[in-house]
Amino acid sequence: MLLKRIVVIIGVICAAAAVNAQQTVINLGSPDGNILLNIIHRNNGSISYGVFYKNEIAVSPSALGMLLKSPVVSLTKFDMAGIDSSAVNETWKPVWGEAGSIQNNYKQLVVKLTDRSGSGIQLQIIFRVFNDGVGFRYSFPQQAKLNHFIVSDELTQFTMSGDHKTFWIPGDYDTNEFMYNTTKLSEVDASSSAMSQEIHAKTFFDKNAVQTPLMMKSGGGLYINIHEAALVNYPAMNLVVDKNGFALNAHLVPDAVGNKAYLQAPAVTPWRTIIVSDKATDILSSKLILNLNEPSKIKDVSWIKPQKMVGVWWEMHIGKSSWDYGATQSGSTIVAHGRHGATTANVKKYIDFAAKNGMDGVLVEGWNTGWEDWFGQWKEDVFDFVTPYPDFDVKELQRYAASKKVRLVMHHETSASVTNYERWMDTAYRFMKKFGYNTVKTGYVGRIIPRGEHHDGQWMIKHYERVMQKTASYKIMLDAHEPVRPTGLHRTYPNFLACEAARGNEFNAWSVGNPPEHETILAFTRLMGGPMDYTPGIFKIKLNQFDPNKKEQVHTTLCKQLALYVTMASPLQMAADLPENYEKHMDAFQFIKDVAVDWDDTKILQAEPGDYVITARKAKGKQSWFLGAMTDEKARDFSVPVDFLPAGRNYLATIYRDASTADWKDNPEAYVVEKFLVDSHTVLKLKLAPGGGAAISFTPASIIENKTIKKYN
Ligand code: NOJ
Ligand code: CA
Repeated sequence: MLLKRIVVIIGVICAAAAVNAQQTVINLGSPDGNILLNIIHRNNGSISYGVFYKNEIAVSPSALGMLLKSPVVSLTKFDMAGIDSSAVNETWKPVWGEAGSIQNNYKQLVVKLTDRSGSGIQLQIIFRVFNDGVGFRYSFPQQAKLNHFIVSDELTQFTMSGDHKTFWIPGDYDTNEFMYNTTKLSEVDASSSAMSQEIHAKTFFDKNAVQTPLMMKSGGGLYINIHEAALVNYPAMNLVVDKNGFALNAHLVPDAVGNKAYLQAPAVTPWRTIIVSDKATDILSSKLILNLNEPSKIKDVSWIKPQKMVGVWWEMHIGKSSWDYGATQSGSTIVAHGRHGATTANVKKYIDFAAKNGMDGVLVEGWNTGWEDWFGQWKEDVFDFVTPYPDFDVKELQRYAASKKVRLVMHHETSASVTNYERWMDTAYRFMKKFGYNTVKTGYVGRIIPRGEHHDGQWMIKHYERVMQKTASYKIMLDAHEPVRPTGLHRTYPNFLACEAARGNEFNAWSVGNPPEHETILAFTRLMGGPMDYTPGIFKIKLNQFDPNKKEQVHTTLCKQLALYVTMASPLQMAADLPENYEKHMDAFQFIKDVAVDWDDTKILQAEPGDYVITARKAKGKQSWFLGAMTDEKARDFSVPVDFLPAGRNYLATIYRDASTADWKDNPEAYVVEKFLVDSHTVLKLKLAPGGGAAISFTPASIIENKTIKKYN
């Protein structure tokens, strides 16, 4: 009787159930029919799922389940209590982002289960099948048999059909700032994370563990991306590779006493996401993760503005100046050393540069007391976020910035003493509003306080969300450094403009750096969850400007730094280099001045993880388009039709490209700027240097340009 009902219900939404002696299989196809989800209920009570893409296996049958403690129940065998089905096809408009409107088109099944071990606990698994992949989550409905409970393990698996090529960073409870590895699944060895000496708080737990977003490519050419969406009130998920059979097993980040999550019914887990296609470009254009997040909880969004900023920032990273004001001598006396970066006079220089060049903001780090004593101490009370150093005049800078129509961007380094930050948050945000700041960059360098908690555990996940909510209540925009990797929550809290949560450009300043392939992998991994504050735009590629012995350098050409503004979209972009370095290359800086930070449309033109990405985007509310092309360590030639331009009119293309002799290592700053007329039939030939890139702006050609600029051929 029950099984009959399932068949009938599923039939309504064009899925099918097949019943045999051992199992019931429920099938659900994507709206376009390319993806097929199987849900398998075996007679022994277990539930598993599998995913096909155009008849190829994307996910082999994979287990689902939960282990609870308090009450101690193993939720692995179930009776099927029913299935609800529905379908949605709607479009919605993000406050900002890569497209002006987004289609949300899926079919859904809610599989209602009752624990077979006798607890009577009800669990639902909600599956959504989109044209670009599958999302599912566990839901504990309100029920008599379950109120408060502790999750001790989530038993979700993602079983791969073979030994796929995998782009991975080591699993960790505290950091995501690793370099990527590209190996087969069977060759994952996360113990290499111990080599990353430049990362200060890292917690290795299993040599077979990797983080999400995890990008894989099968031998048959299927691209598979696994991540999560809407990570709220729950720990982040790592994946442990079982090398006999290629199952990826969920591993939740524990808390200080070893538990995973404290929940109260009704409760849901984040969505587990599988994005799949036979085209790499489809992975980058997927909106599945955003679609699985809740709509904006902020009603009035008029104050949320995408922005570009410069900052008293890179000069500290490359050793021109310091965050701290002085050196601590005898107890608490601080004696100025004269190298402090955040002085009133220096900040004014940046404000002048920003005003002259149309930058919206100036980030200032090292403005507040505490920097003498912040690093590596695991100390609770370091910063108070309201006490400036004596050479930083808050009032005068408020006046000066306002007179130049530039906003100062606040910095709150918490040194991971989150208890302390929680105590200061309201006071700190009131201080910001009083002095005219509307954007804050937070930071969580070091080991977390409360001691024993982790950056990616449930306690911190709740903290990050609290910061999103609280900043929103003060109409403050947010950029977080060293948080958990994002899961699309910027849809729900659009004041959460960007975050770091990966190895940023800054690693080039003081470590072995980011290899030339790094950004081509970031696009397929970290960026799947949301925009990154990568801090592009470094023009002075060799970093020995202030210390002739400094060997570090950025591992790209100058033109690739320009391309990043398009290939790594963010509503908060930094022009991260020093004003004096931009002033030597104002012809190239023009691209950073012009490039948009908010978009009506995006076309991923060509892409391959670890190799190259070429992206074109249309500026929000304007006719102009921008193109970014980036490669790894290999020089590459591309033919790029610009058929995304509207037909029937000429555009002025300003092309910023690597000079023919350019090379990230030996000749990184050699570039050429050229202007041509193009139209939608033009096919551009782009030559990227090793570690190189190209950036192009397209604006409708004026009458004069139509007469004076030559046609591209
Ligand atoms: C690490 C952040 O990623 C960086 O941007 C910041 O300058 C330092 N911490 C100091 O807070
Ligand atoms: Ca960082």
